[in-house]
Amino acid sequence: MTRHFLTDLDLSPEELHQVLDLADWMRDHPYAVKALTGPQTAALIFDKTSTRTRVSFSAGIAALGGHPLVFNPGEAQLGHKESISDTARVLDRQVSLIIWRTYAQSGLEEMAEYSRVPVINSLSDEYHPCQLLADLLTVRDHLGALQGKALAYVGDAANNMANSYLLAGVNAGMDVRIAGPEGYLPAAHVISAAKQRARVTGGMVTVTTEAAVALSHADVVATDTWVSMGQEQEERTRRRVFSDYQLNAEAMGRAHDGAIVLHCLPAFRGAEITADVIDGPQSVVWEEAENRLHAQKALMAWLLVESDLADEETAR
Ligand code: CP
Ligand code: NVA
Repeated sequence: MTRHFLTDLDLSPEELHQVLDLADWMRDHPYAVKALTGPQTAALIFDKTSTRTRVSFSAGIAALGGHPLVFNPGEAQLGHKESISDTARVLDRQVSLIIWRTYAQSGLEEMAEYSRVPVINSLSDEYHPCQLLADLLTVRDHLGALQGKALAYVGDAANNMANSYLLAGVNAGMDVRIAGPEGYLPAAHVISAAKQRARVTGGMVTVTTEAAVALSHADVVATDTWVSMGQEQEERTRRRVFSDYQLNAEAMGRAHDGAIVLHCLPAFRGAEITADVIDGPQSVVWEEAENRLHAQKALMAWLLVESDLADEETAR
């Protein structure tokens, strides 16, 4: 059975720790694991623009011994001239991984249904699970452990990052607090999935309109852009709606003194976060960006090995 990574909950809590441990090891041994030999090719399809995801996957695939084949927005037939299922059935005969940044999560689900090679969600409107692997690795680096640590996310609480913080955070056993204005909170199905996983891991879920409640004594403080890709037309409204949820010195004053600050980037200084916070001593955003490389290398190697193992089990 092929393993895919479409949402943060596609890894069990144990598997999440395996991937993070592997990432930690691979960081010290950057070229030791040749999971893509040959060189095998991995397809990277972008329906939206990217800097970090493109560079970290491309560099990671090369380090694993493989070749990245990048489709920039509009370059593939997919999305205008060819269906997702036909694309999957063409790609999976020639590449070892399909990594796709797109809009609807349902598109990724369809790609995975038809693909015999692992499909990785490199950002959809609903989730950004690869980013969360890097974020959790960064938190572990600074706080030692994830279990029980308080993670506060403030801002657009209905976007892909908020959903992924909620799911990945509870998967790691964290106390996750998500704060945003009414109408911009996670969907009911995401909250319910998070609560279900939290029951297994001992994690905690708080969804609130009060930024101060989320931030109170938090160990980790995170935010994201108020205007995600595809929402550019709503920019003016969004800047007004989220203005009380800015991550600034006053907000940081509510968190633990030693709290670390995460932002997946790109960031808009003066909107969701102030320059003194993102460029200040508590910010670990550059390490977080680097950890995309280590975390995704581990994820790709792990998915390939697990998919092979699963195939061997099925053949027995
Ligand atoms: N954080 C992130 O995914 O960045 P890019 O959009 O540059 O890939
Ligand atoms: N929420 C942002 C994340 C960018 C990495 C977006 O989707 O544009």
